[in-house]
Parts: sequence; structure tokens; C-alpha cells
Amino acid sequence: MPLSLSGEHYNALVSAIRVLPSDLVNQIAAGEVVERPASVVKELVENAIDAGARTIDVILENGGKKRIEIRDDGSGMPHDDALLAIERHATSKIREFDDLTRVRTLGFRGEALPSIASVSRFTLTTFDGNSEHAIEIDVDPLTGSRTSRPAARDRGTTISVRELFENVPARRKFLRSSEAEFRSIVTVVSSYALPLREHAFRLEHNGRIVLDLAPASSTRERVAQVIGSEAEEALADFECTIGAVRASGFVTRGLRFGSRRNQFFFVNGRLVKDRVLTHAATRASDAFDFDGHPAIVLFLDLAPELVDVNVHPAKTEVRFRDSSQVHVAVEQGLRQALGVAEEGSGLLQSTQPDSSLFAPQRFDPPPQPRTDFTPLFQQRAIVQPPVQSAPATLVEAEPQPQLGDLQGRVIGQYRLSYILLDTPGGLRLVDQHVAHERVLFDRYLARIEAHAPTTQHLLTPMLYESGAAESAVLESHLDELRAVGFDIERFSGNAFAVSGVPPELVQKDVESFLRKLIDASLEEKSSHLVRVREKVCASLACQAAIKVHRPLGGEEMARLVAELLQSSNPFACPHGRPIIVDIKHLDIERHFHRK
Ligand SMILES: Nc1ncnc2c1ncn2[C@@H]1O[C@H](COP(=O)(O)OP(=O)(O)OP(=O)(O)O)[C@@H](O)[C@H]1O
Ligand SMILES: [Mg+2]
Repeated sequence: MPLSLSGEHYNALVSAIRVLPSDLVNQIAAGEVVERPASVVKELVENAIDAGARTIDVILENGGKKRIEIRDDGSGMPHDDALLAIERHATSKIREFDDLTRVRTLGFRGEALPSIASVSRFTLTTFDGNSEHAIEIDVDPLTGSRTSRPAARDRGTTISVRELFENVPARRKFLRSSEAEFRSIVTVVSSYALPLREHAFRLEHNGRIVLDLAPASSTRERVAQVIGSEAEEALADFECTIGAVRASGFVTRGLRFGSRRNQFFFVNGRLVKDRVLTHAATRASDAFDFDGHPAIVLFLDLAPELVDVNVHPAKTEVRFRDSSQVHVAVEQGLRQALGVAEEGSGLLQSTQPDSSLFAPQRFDPPPQPRTDFTPLFQQRAIVQPPVQSAPATLVEAEPQPQLGDLQGRVIGQYRLSYILLDTPGGLRLVDQHVAHERVLFDRYLARIEAHAPTTQHLLTPMLYESGAAESAVLESHLDELRAVGFDIERFSGNAFAVSGVPPELVQKDVESFLRKLIDASLEEKSSHLVRVREKVCASLACQAAIKVHRPLGGEEMARLVAELLQSSNPFACPHGRPIIVDIKHLDIERHFHRK
């Protein structure tokens, strides 16, 4: 029954206003900051990192429900500070309102220690290296009263949290099994190790060391320590800077996991969950394969003013001032790493002999040499590397692809879908559909940039009808559509009249193109100008490009390959799929035991 907020009942509920006692206030705040043992560990590890610790030890009993102890070798605290640290809103990290807009530490609210102390048996031991001796402080969770005594320890801080939620049975009931709580803690500790490769982290559970991360010599090594050495070979690094936003890190190519558990996002060193980042990562990885999730370690660095870290009680969420810029940087960075040409040697080695690319039983009859067209291509000089002045900002951000030796001779078409090239480096396969997609994409972008749309008028204009939400999306893309050659206007209600299209698009494909464009926009909701343009061009290129399973003449293939090599990125299509696969000659020779 809904609660009635009128009459007597309402009065009874609100008439007696009281200021709550401070221990109750702390417990309420603790409900927001401390949800489970893993959140305690997160807060305490963050404090140790902020204090400049290099070695952080985490000791647990029963998944942290019985005991969590964190020892660090950081700055420690003088006695007065140690007593103050347990007070609410006591922090050494910010001083005034403006500091909130440029937070560089992981903590800034002065809430974690008092919150944790109000729901556990809490002891803090600390030594700053200058005081006469260390100090140990116990906090009584019920009264908040403290007792302190001299203690002995090296410089640094130890915080011990026992019997979490003992005094809040309702919350204790919500804790999961020790094993489940323990697993969440492993995730927290190992995640924080990722950006801090020079730090040592140790985690002990019920007397057993379960994680022992020595300082690593490189971030790649640290990533391998955390997500497993099997992933190391598959790790590709990436870096993409757009404006003031830099996205860098690692992603596994070819190796995927059943969940996103191996995806870690850091914003200025802070581990966060964020929809913009997750969405960008998903789009980039789905462009290659819909199955599973690659491991991703993403470090997003931007000026502290461009991100609000004060939006979530546990500080695990952030808000970006310009989320489309962030989206573009992350997606572009990941696509770049996922989309460079596959190395043929990997293909050869990873297949089992009986299913191998070159297994005799799967050999098709050798293609007849097509002498009618090969000379044509041979006459060409070496194709120039792609021009530097790529049309879109997005493309400009990509490093120049390594094309190796570009000279090549078309030797045939495989399965009516791939163009085969004999190059000085070996055998090259080019996916005809995505290659054409890339060429058209560049062409469309160039037309928009040059304000030179090319239009083919339709003999009979066509009507395109859609729903209200869809037509709003289409309306917002009309400028870009016209810029690329569409003659389109709103007809009435949700109907649009199309009387001209870019020449590469055949009339029967117009409807399908508009539908896919709308789908792509509804799914993404970003109105960044570059993105809308890119999207229109990419959807159009995909629709208009030659399909697979289509026979191509020799001259057609040669022209396509030449145009591809002059495009802004011959290795990845606008959706990020690979275009070229190279199989090194040396690997072919090795396979036949010639080398
Ligand atoms: N391990 C530590 N080593 C040295 N000083 C510490 C340590 N942990 C806490 N402190 C000090 O105690 C203060 C209070 O810590 P607390 O975690 O409650 O707040 P905070 O880190 O400032 O902000 P937040 O609530 O956002 O974490 C810190 O500002 C810091 O000065
Ligand atoms: Mg803190």
C-alpha cells in the first residue's frame, strides 16, 4: 500500500525534528562510503597511495569480514594529525572550494576513516619518522571515543579494521560469502597495481599469500602480472590524444574473455566505472568481433578541471566536461591497436596442422595466373604512402601506418572476396569490401570538407517514412547528408523526400542506408560534429561498397588496391575492421622447410 503523506500519519512522521547524534551521522555516511569489505580496502589502499607508500600489504581474514589490515611505508602522520584524521571532514588534501576542481589525490573528502571507524573495531598505528615514537589509536565504534598510546613501528601507517558491521547487523546480513568478498578485494588490489608499476603489493588471506606483486620494470609487465602471462603476447599498446585528452594503455588482440572483468579504466590514476568509457570500449571492440570482451587497461589523462570527481560517495564515478571528446579518444585509440594488419606468421603458427591454412587436404587447386591484367599493375611505380593531411581530426590522430614495401602484383581473387597480391614481403590478402569501404569513406569525408557534394538525381523522388524518434535523428543529420550529396528534405510529419543521392549509392539501397544510419545514431546519442560526419560517411561507405562474393576484373582489383594504399589508413576500415592480412614470405618458406 502506498504510504500516505497527508493527515495525521504525515504529521506524526515529521513533527519532531532532531539533530542526529554524531555516531549515527557517521554510520549513515558509512553506508554510502563503506558498502562491503572491498570498499574498506579501496579507501585504505587509496590513502596509502596518497601518502606516497611504495609497499602496500593487505592482510585479510574471512574475506575481510573478520579482519582487514593495511600496512604501508608512506609518510605516516604526526600525533595530532593522527587524532584529527579520524574526525569527520578532516583532510589534508584540499583546503578550499576551488581545490575541488583540481583534485590530484585519490581522496579529498575526509570521510573514509571516520566512516570506517564508526562501523568496525578500528585501530590506527602511525609513525612519521620525526615524532619521538609511533602512536596507536583505538576508536570505540559506539561512543566514538578514542584511546591512544605510544607504539613502535617504522615510518608508515597500519590500519586494522575488525568485525566490520558488527554494530550494524542489518548491513552485516547483506555481506556475501567470505570467498565472494575476498574475490572483490583481489580485484580492487590488483586493479590499483596497474597504474603503479613501481609499487609492491601483497595480499594475504587467512594466512596464505595470494598476491605478491614485485615492482615491475614496465607497465606491460605489470599488466601481465595482473591479467595473466598468457595475455602478455596478445597485448597491444595504444595511445591517442585528442585535444587535451590522452587515452593510452593496453588491449588484448585476438584474446577475449567471457565478461568485462579484465577491463580496467583509470581517469587520472583513479579506478572508475564509467558509461562513456565502457561504451567507447565496447564500440571499438565490437567492431572487430561480437564474441567476448578483450582485456583493456585504459589510462585516461586530462587536466583535472576537465573532470568532476566529486559525483559519487565512493568516488568510483566521474563526470567529464566534454564526454564526446573522451569517447572519440578512447574509441579511436583502441581501434587503432585492434586494427593494424594481422601478422601472417601468427596465423600460420596458431593453427593446428590438420586445420591449418596450408594443410594439404584443404588446398584448393592453384589459381590460374591471370596474365591479362597483371602487367597493368606492374607498370605502376611504387604507390606513394598515404598523404599526411587526412581529412578528419579523427584520422589525423592516427600514427602513420607501416605499409612496408608497397609494390605488389595482383595475382587473383580468393573466394570472390579477397584480392591476392604478390608483394616483395610475401603474400597479401585484401578484403575487397572493407577496402572499398575505406576508399569511399575517405572520398565522402573529402567531399564534405571541400564543400563539394556530388549528386545523382533520381528519376522519381522517393519517400522515406519513419517513427517520431527516428525522424528527429534524421532531421539532425540533414546537413551532413546534404553535404555528402543527398537531396533530402522533410516532406510532412515523419516523412522525408529524397530526390538525389551520392552517385555510388544505388536507389534500392537508399532506404536500408537511412535505417542503418538512424540505428547507429540512436544507439550512440553523441552529437559531436566530427562523429556525426564520420558516422554518415561510414554508413554510406558500408552501404555503397562492393560486397563480398562478387567477381572483380583484374583492372578493377588493381585500381582498388592502388586507391586503398593512398587512403588515410589502408589497414583498418572506418568501423575498425582489418583490411589487410600479410603472410610473410619467410614464413611460407619455413612452412615448406625451405628455410
Ligand atoms: N595511510 C595513511 N598515511 C598517511 N596519512 C593518512 C593515511 N590515511 C589517512 N591519512 C590522513 O588522514 C586524512 C583522512 O583520511 P580519509 O581517508 O578519512 O580522508 P581523505 O583521504 O582526505 O578523503 P576521502 O574521504 O575522500 O578518502 C587524510 O587526508 C590524510 O591526511
Ligand atoms: Mg581517503
